[in-house]
Amino acid sequence: MPSLRIEEVKEVAVIGAGDMGHGIVELCALNGYKVYLKDIDQKILGKAKKRIRESLNILERKGKLKDETIETVLGRIFLILDYEHSLENCQLAIEAVPEIMSLKKKIFSELDSKLPKSAIIATNTSNMSITELASQTNRSSQVVGMHFFNPVILMKTIEIIKGSNTSDETMKFTENFAYSLNKLPIPVLKDVPGFIVNRVQAPSSVLLNKTIEKKIATFSQIDANFRKIGQPMGPFELMDYVGLDIYKHGADYFAQKIHPEFKSPKWVNELITAGKLGKKTNHGIYDWSSGRPFIDL
Ligand code: 3HC
Repeated sequence: MPSLRIEEVKEVAVIGAGDMGHGIVELCALNGYKVYLKDIDQKILGKAKKRIRESLNILERKGKLKDETIETVLGRIFLILDYEHSLENCQLAIEAVPEIMSLKKKIFSELDSKLPKSAIIATNTSNMSITELASQTNRSSQVVGMHFFNPVILMKTIEIIKGSNTSDETMKFTENFAYSLNKLPIPVLKDVPGFIVNRVQAPSSVLLNKTIEKKIATFSQIDANFRKIGQPMGPFELMDYVGLDIYKHGADYFAQKIHPEFKSPKWVNELITAGKLGKKTNHGIYDWSSGRPFIDL
């Protein structure tokens, strides 16, 4: 298969309109790409468009929309419930659905059957095996990890992960695509659980959870200390910000693949069962109803 050049990419598909999906769509549209955003629920699609508009409003206020209007950027975004013919001209699809391997695999085989043969399929998974997902397709050399960080529009880097069969051309293409979005690609050459960033964070998360369980310090004391040393958020604020459900998926995947000690702690599971998922539900470890948790500095 001749390698794909970045100039050939005009249309992109993003599957999953949640926290990450809507941010990826906003970023692609802002940088000139026509984007199809696919989800299974019209309400989720509507909410995604509203969040994109809110974020574009902020960027406009700050004069960061270059010479474009919000409507021009939004005009590049197409919300879809079915693929129909929308993937015919897409040279890249980015999957951003929940971290459930069976769901991701189903989407990978659908994309493989509907995208042009030359197209690249990327996954925004935080932790899961790119190689295993690629095995669902007949184009494993064109499957790659593209791990964005939340909030997509503001975070500067994207991990680009090479699966066992990902070609060098696909890596190069995906790195160039990240540059075209004004992000810094971080190539990850081994397909290991958590890649680099989440792999580095996971052990400290185990110790931090023990610090809470042993009542050595409170959430707020720990977060205050992180803020005092210049971090924008403490680790527990960040868990709430990203979502406790997302945290749990990652932790349990690490427990399954690396060591049981990584498993999501009981208190996180209890918050999730109570519907307290963090910022998105206004409650998690903290109360977010006023927009930010109160942390006594
Ligand atoms: N669109 C546009 N602008 C936005 C925005 C959005 N969606 N959200 C916030 N902003 C702007 C605000 O308007 C504000 O602008 P100003 O400084 O000109 O007033 C600026 O960004 C900062 O926002 P806030 O004042 O609301 O709050 P903070 O200063 O705390 O910044 C933050 C927010 C950028 C999220 C910062 O707290 C931060 O960097 N936190 C850490 C985030 C992080 O580590 N993310 C990675 C998580 S791990 C992950 O994603 C991996 C995955 O696998 C789970």
